[in-house]
Amino acid sequence: MGLEPRCYALVPAAGVGARSGADRPKQYVNLAGRAMMAHTLDALAAVPGLDATLVVLSPEDDQFEAAVPGFAGERAWVARCGGATRAESVANGLIELLARGAQPHDWVLVHDAARCLLRPEWVSRLIAACADDEVGGLLALPVADTLKDATAAGRVAATVDRRGKWAAQTPQMFRLGLLKPALAAGTEGVTDEASAIEALGHQPLLVESPMENFKVTWPADFALAERLLNSR
Ligand code: C5P
Repeated sequence: MGLEPRCYALVPAAGVGARSGADRPKQYVNLAGRAMMAHTLDALAAVPGLDATLVVLSPEDDQFEAAVPGFAGERAWVARCGGATRAESVANGLIELLARGAQPHDWVLVHDAARCLLRPEWVSRLIAACADDEVGGLLALPVADTLKDATAAGRVAATVDRRGKWAAQTPQMFRLGLLKPALAAGTEGVTDEASAIEALGHQPLLVESPMENFKVTWPADFALAERLLNSR
């Protein structure tokens, strides 16, 4: 066992994408000629500091191999161990990483399959910023818009002070030995890894990243992502 920590990417892709309006899990929607997730995994494969990428699929997934034929080789791992929530899928993925030889001091970079505009250099920036950090961190974007709290009827209840507010993105980079107990402590309401780490009293590092690293979520996001992919 080497003392130099390794870096693994973990891509939870076991969701159905209920908000997307698509006829299949959104990670398999075709964008610029390929499944959305193929673009995501290409970007991760081009990051020099990553030792391997683990894709976590739903146990019922029968589309991945046909949709992403290029994901192959020693550094490309697949496990059909997805759970009922994103946090469960990630927690199950960490167990799989341990089974494949990862150590508690190794770094895990969790990245949404649906952030398919990812650029390798943004990941490298995150790795460089967190490598000597005690906690770890995440890509994020300072909020530019004025934020509103809404009533159930879709009216403005209040304006939220946006100063000091950031929109969390992924990858989110933490040591396996910290992230695993953080997720085990309870995944209720946990929509990203950082919030589980925060619940233990830590303060993850915010590493600024462009708006282009958005998560394809709403119906209109697909056309926007495709335009950006085609313009590259
Ligand atoms: O639904 P949302 O867009 O927040 O999902 C973010 C990521 O988490 C997606 O890549 C999705 O496939 C994944 N996910 C998962 N297991 C679930 C739910 C979501 O791996 N049960």
